[in-house]
Amino acid sequence: MNLKGLAKNRLPGHVAIIMDGNGRWARLRGKGRIEGHRRGRASVRTVVEMSRRLGIPYLSLYAFSTENWLRPKEEVHALMDLLEHYLAVEQPKMMRHGIRLLAIGDKSRLPDAVLRTLEHAVRATQHNTGMTVVLALSYSGRDDIARMVQGIARKVRDGACAVEDINEEMISGHMETKSIPDPDLLIRTSGEMRISNFFLWQIPYTELYITSTLWPDFREAEYLEALLEFQRRRRRFGRTDEQIGEPLRSVGRSQ
Ligand code: FPP
Repeated sequence: MNLKGLAKNRLPGHVAIIMDGNGRWARLRGKGRIEGHRRGRASVRTVVEMSRRLGIPYLSLYAFSTENWLRPKEEVHALMDLLEHYLAVEQPKMMRHGIRLLAIGDKSRLPDAVLRTLEHAVRATQHNTGMTVVLALSYSGRDDIARMVQGIARKVRDGACAVEDINEEMISGHMETKSIPDPDLLIRTSGEMRISNFFLWQIPYTELYITSTLWPDFREAEYLEALLEFQRRRRRFGRTDEQIGEPLRSVGRSQ
């Protein structure tokens, strides 16, 4: 991998990706949407592998949103098949490379076979310490927030805490991402300028990188460019330029 000036000591601690444009990639080539997802899976392999080799500790991938359940039955089915196959094939590789897999989202909606394969991979990799891949599956940022509110409300109702105890740290600790630092960099492919109900609470000072590249074309060179752009940014977290010495990682619970 030619790293072309990437500073290894200033990499993001957590990269999150909204993988978009599989359908357009396929349409442009006169192929079916599912072929686009298949090629998108190869990009998933690329970014996981490259993150691991670079030593990026956390990578979150928005693989399926709650809204994606509304897609045609055949496409949902094909995506679930791809996912199951990916998890089955990649699990031994994750073990070899010390990758820990986490899944966030409403897993109760996943087909049994996918859920079984997913739970197996999460369990098998739980003690790996190399890097963490977070798969957002049937995930919705708003749903995550709603469940956080329910969790805290229950504690208040049961007398486990007072309303006045509720603070940012407590809220973060009740989100699905409680064990994960806030993303430093959020990448979105295919040029759309929106968050699409992915991380909402978790991205107050995350650097956004939006590229017109379609997800199946997002490979080593494109990922490297995103990381280089991240390193060109000056993160001030609300402070002035003069107050900032070295570029910083995320606020909050980041490591
Ligand atoms: C968005 O493209 C992509 C998805 C909804 C699914 C992402 C899935 C993969 C990359 C493949 C399998 C995933 C894993 C983790 C192995 P789109 O269909 O919305 O594209 P469009 O906007 O061009 O129609």
